[in-house]
Amino acid sequence: MLELKGFACGYGLVQVVEELDLTVPSGRITALLGPNGAGKTSTLMAIAGHVEVQGGQVLFEGEDITRLAPAERTRRGIALAPEGRRIFPDLTVAENLLVGGYTQTAVAARETEARVMALFPRLQERYRQRAGTLSGGEQQMLALGRALMARPKLLLVDELSLGLMPAMVELCFRALVELKVQGLAVLLVEQNTHRALAAADRVAVLVSGRKVYEATGEQARRDPEMVDSFLGLKEMA
Ligand SMILES: Nc1ncnc2c1ncn2[C@@H]1O[C@H](COP(=O)(O)OP(=O)(O)O)[C@@H](O)[C@H]1O
Ligand SMILES: [Mg+2]
Repeated sequence: MLELKGFACGYGLVQVVEELDLTVPSGRITALLGPNGAGKTSTLMAIAGHVEVQGGQVLFEGEDITRLAPAERTRRGIALAPEGRRIFPDLTVAENLLVGGYTQTAVAARETEARVMALFPRLQERYRQRAGTLSGGEQQMLALGRALMARPKLLLVDELSLGLMPAMVELCFRALVELKVQGLAVLLVEQNTHRALAAADRVAVLVSGRKVYEATGEQARRDPEMVDSFLGLKEMA
């Protein structure tokens, strides 16, 4: 679904990610792990078109989208649930979802919304509530729901579990698994290494903008080297 080839991204003269090769297939959760400042958020933002790609290629469904505008990437099927969730606190749940579905006809948006409600019944209960009054977990569900309103083929999720109560973390992870079973390609960035490892079909570790490890989820879960190298570097960071 998504392929990064020799990918580099950054901010003007500052390059934060270099020489990254990564494949994100449909029907799988790919976890991108690594310490703070590794370049995980920058990578997701660059895939979505919000951060400059400074080298290499971004291929989506086999086509080069490296230079496409963010709205065009959305139209093709890339959606981002950003770090910090970035919902509109003064709008209701319903209105936030409507914003996410702006590329669709009203009929299609209603249909997609029904699917989001089936995935997150909690959002149905809070439908007319101001988003700013939701709990952290409910806001994360709304951020995911808003991204899903664009009917993406690739869902980029930045820090799914950050700041959430354990029960909410579980609900959000279960939703991701449900989405991948439905065929979505999921690229997940997580601080919660343990939880991400448990859910991931594939794992890549980024340290200081370089990929230092890659394996299947199964290998990574059994691989002390992965945990050691990553956690060791994490302490240094
Ligand atoms: N808007 C920006 N301008 C310049 N540098 C930035 C900007 N955003 C992030 N960076 C830098 O890019 C590097 C990677 O950051 P980030 O992608 O947020 O890492 P992560 O998500 O892995 O913690 C950091 O050194 C950070 O300071
Ligand atoms: Mg980040």
